[in-house]
Amino acid sequence: MEKQAKNSNINIKKTVLTGDRPTGRLHLGHYVGSIQNRIALQDKIGNSIDNAFYMLADIQALTDNSDNPEKVSNNVLEVAMDNIACGLDPKKTTFFIQSCIPEIAELTVLFLNLVTLARLRRNPTVKNEMKQKGFGEDVPAGFLSYPISQTADILFCGGSIVPVGEDQLPVLEQANEIVDKFNSIYGETFSRIEPVLSNAPRLVGIDGNAKASKSLGNAIYISDSYEEIKRKVMAMYTDPEHIHVNDPGKVEGNVVFTYLDIFDTDKAEVANLKQQYKKGGLGDVAIKNRLIEVLEKIIAPIRQKRLELEKNPEKIMEILKQGNEK
Ligand code: TRP
Repeated sequence: MEKQAKNSNINIKKTVLTGDRPTGRLHLGHYVGSIQNRIALQDKIGNSIDNAFYMLADIQALTDNSDNPEKVSNNVLEVAMDNIACGLDPKKTTFFIQSCIPEIAELTVLFLNLVTLARLRRNPTVKNEMKQKGFGEDVPAGFLSYPISQTADILFCGGSIVPVGEDQLPVLEQANEIVDKFNSIYGETFSRIEPVLSNAPRLVGIDGNAKASKSLGNAIYISDSYEEIKRKVMAMYTDPEHIHVNDPGKVEGNVVFTYLDIFDTDKAEVANLKQQYKKGGLGDVAIKNRLIEVLEKIIAPIRQKRLELEKNPEKIMEILKQGNEK
């Protein structure tokens, strides 16, 4: 009887775990890719979800910033504040710091034996990031193996539900290979991981690059001022052949429309604007002005909440301390 309860526990208990590398402030790509889902999931606690954890992945951030530890430590509070300002509620979601949990490091060492070097090199996300960072053969071993420590991040607390951006899917696929291998050798221990994707799992950059990212400098931050939002939207890539207002314009690949599709709640009006733009007669400035107002409406309350949080960093420290203990 007792045994059965224990076994079925594995399947019934649903724990959410997610995290960010604290290397800089968060942007709209994080917001639509994962933060909104974090917030939706914490509201299911008591129903389909038992527990929700949010981790500041400072150890993972060091895998490509070992020469700049201050950057990582300085951003722990920043990224925690970004999440709280967006609506992640420390009363529902437990915030903690990766480096404060030695069990994650211990589990990582065990998992290292279950993954080959060849498999690590094949991970498309890691490959892509290595290219972006210009690592080549001189990649730090810690960076190449971060999917292994990320698996430990999720599993040490019994996590199985993981809201992430699309770029993290290959990492979670690798994590599930570790789950399967571990369970098959040592007995049924860990649940398989289920990624939770948003309907906008990847946000393009303001320059039209496939991904908004801090390293590419093409992102709008959730703490950006109105002036910064304005400047960035005005610089957005549209249709280079749409020179005169009356020229017919392209909607596909036009970043302003991509953002309107995601952030503007008035879908009928966006459809209407697209029609006009395609026909000719609608200028870039008009659609950009609309997007500026749409984004300001979303960001203004977040910015304001963040300014309040900044006044009291001790309170954030206390939240993190309590989470570490839990
Ligand atoms: N690799 C993730 C990112 O770059 C951050 C992260 C670390 C994470 N540990 C995690 C995400 C565990 C989900 C679960 O965004």
